[in-house]
Amino acid sequence: MTGKLSRREFLGAASGATAAAVMVPGMSHSIEAPAVHIRQSSKNVAVASGNGLRAVAKAGELMAQGVDTLDAAIEGVKIQELDPNDMSVGYGGLPNEHGVVQLDASCMHGPTKRAGAVGALEGIKTPSVVAKYVLLYTNHIMLVGEGAKKFALSYGFKEEDLMTEQSRERWLRWRANRGERDDWINVERDEQMVPRPTGTINCNVVNSSGDISSVTTTSGLAWKIPGRVGDSPIIGAGQYTDNDVGAAGSTGRGESNIMVCGAFLTVEGMRRGLSPTDAALETLRRVVAASEPRLLDERGQPTFGLSFYAVSKAGEFGAATIRPSRYAVFDGVEASHQDTAYLYERDA
Ligand code: GLY
Repeated sequence: MTGKLSRREFLGAASGATAAAVMVPGMSHSIEAPAVHIRQSSKNVAVASGNGLRAVAKAGELMAQGVDTLDAAIEGVKIQELDPNDMSVGYGGLPNEHGVVQLDASCMHGPTKRAGAVGALEGIKTPSVVAKYVLLYTNHIMLVGEGAKKFALSYGFKEEDLMTEQSRERWLRWRANRGERDDWINVERDEQMVPRPTGTINCNVVNSSGDISSVTTTSGLAWKIPGRVGDSPIIGAGQYTDNDVGAAGSTGRGESNIMVCGAFLTVEGMRRGLSPTDAALETLRRVVAASEPRLLDERGQPTFGLSFYAVSKAGEFGAATIRPSRYAVFDGVEASHQDTAYLYERDA
């Protein structure tokens, strides 16, 4: 033996979980080479909820320029936060039952093992960036409500009306359609307003050096009880990153996700060797098992929607939903929509 490892021996060591012993000529004992447990991505990959096609494209573009993974992910989701036509996130997001937009967001930065979050934040268009400021500049992880707003204002964020003409119109119609005998008159009756939309954007990224970050941002459940905070700002539910393993995040019914700490559970699945898709599916099965009967139909299937998106340190990616859907991916070359894995077919 020459003391040099052939390419095949090197790859064997890199993909295995055991340490390779390298004999060095002239030395009587062996030197333990470091064990490499998980292959590292050689490309920049971003995965997001279906509304995140522009987010993954932006994150991919920025990572190619060498921008840090958390900054890349946040610049991606900011597009959606600032888009008045996305009524599930940031500016233009649907409000709570009092007509006030309350935003939730959280993020994690794998390399520095830091996290930040804001809950029920009012008047600031980009809660993901405020969450990043909590991560960067405080010894805390989550700020909520008035405190979160004052924190944002102290850094120069502008307080703005987050309602658009469109979101206000939807809220006014919802308010007028809650009860047959309510006191609202001269408003359009529209039973379609009664279902409660949830929407959110989650984005998880890994770069070609194997560094990982994640972010989730939302206006939460439309027409929620004021003060309700969903899964998005909860570290381990709305998103989670472990720089040795991967990242995962969620959109959909937050309460059901909080019950299983779904983003953390998905990352733990990948740690045990599951692919991102299989880890996300396994988490969804746990969600179903943890659901109270009132949330399941007569077949035992959830009456709500929930999705998980994941990326591994090796650059593998996947997503799973309760019923068939699509998610957004930047695979190192281009951004596209792909089909999710799912638990149940849609009813015909
Ligand atoms: N997943 C978003 C929410 O429930 O607020």
